[in-house]
Amino acid sequence: MKGSSPVPVPAIEAIPRGLVSLADHETFARTRLDDQSWAYFSGGAADELTLRANRRAWDDLQLLPRVLRQLAGGHTRVELLGRTLSHPLLVAPMAYQRMAHSDGEMAMAHAAASQQAGLVLSTQASVPLETVASAFRTHADRGPLWFQLYLQHDRGFTRELVQRAEASGYEALVLTVDAPVHGARDRERRSGFKLPVGISATNLAQLAARPTASGHSLFDTLHTHAPVWSDVQWLQDITRLPVLLKGVLHPEDARQAAALQVAGLIVSNHGGRTLDTTPATAAILPRIADAVRGELPLLVDGGIRRGTDVLKAAALGARAVLVGRPCVYGLANAGALGVAHVLRLLRDELEIAMALCGCSTLDQASPELFFDPMS
Ligand code: FNR
Ligand code: LAC
Repeated sequence: MKGSSPVPVPAIEAIPRGLVSLADHETFARTRLDDQSWAYFSGGAADELTLRANRRAWDDLQLLPRVLRQLAGGHTRVELLGRTLSHPLLVAPMAYQRMAHSDGEMAMAHAAASQQAGLVLSTQASVPLETVASAFRTHADRGPLWFQLYLQHDRGFTRELVQRAEASGYEALVLTVDAPVHGARDRERRSGFKLPVGISATNLAQLAARPTASGHSLFDTLHTHAPVWSDVQWLQDITRLPVLLKGVLHPEDARQAAALQVAGLIVSNHGGRTLDTTPATAAILPRIADAVRGELPLLVDGGIRRGTDVLKAAALGARAVLVGRPCVYGLANAGALGVAHVLRLLRDELEIAMALCGCSTLDQASPELFFDPMS
């Protein structure tokens, strides 16, 4: 579809009464989604220890506020990849959003743009990337539009995918590196999850089947094509867009990425959906920040549900945050309006948290905001 084609505008729905937090949206979404979709969207890998640890780590950080500070002229703006954003929230890439709502990624795009949030579209989106870009770009004061890339076994196809993203106005590529295989998703498998008829990774429709290999283990088959460090360089060479890596947890990997001059890192464990028992992102973020010493911007995701979590992320060294599941829950609850509500709640909570901590801007957030019971 061409960028100039008409943009379907999603229907306005109402926010169900009594939803005043992201947790409320989650609880309500459970009543809107069938068991299989719920298992897919909300579930994590294996015992879901990392899924839970992500949340707990933000909760366990206690804020020690400063009072009577000058707040006049304060704002939530941040600088990211050469742009000034109204606030540091981006919608995380999530596959198959039409499973949550018939408007899927279209509704997500309109909502994110209307709230000046960034949008990271998944390679496995259920709507063509061109259609989503044209919807998002109709909003004048929108945030950044990025494309999340899974390198495909067919590198010619991958290159074409990158070219389509460039041509339709995506401003950066987010290469996800923590999911060369699907995690051991017990909850998903227990539910008997299958993609519903009519929903697919439409941007991969022309991808030829993966060549069959003779071996029996993952290492003989899939891993023959799994991306390696030299592919990061390959990607940087074939695109004019900045390349960020998503899914880096080890400080050494962060250093290696910095040496390749990637444009940024998203500290992420895929929302606890890939390898279980990894540390929470809030726990590892300070080590990554130490390792890269400000050489490149850091973003973080995983369990961000409150404005205080966003402020804590900034205090630990993140320039911006990605929000995953709550956006899908908002989508399931009330389409575009539901997502906009989720993002608005988080923005409002962030402003409240900043004001109550005595921070007029996010760059004033530092580890000094935390209460350390040992000191
Ligand atoms: C994801 N995530 C993800 N990441 C990615 O790089 N490409 C993708 O296609 C997907 N798909 C996807 C689907 C669903 C249903 C979820 C919940 C997540 C991971 C996502 O981008 C992000 O890292 C986490 O979701 C962040 O954690 P929270 O906010 O969901 O706790
Ligand atoms: C997931 C894949 C699509 O997390 O990244 O479901």
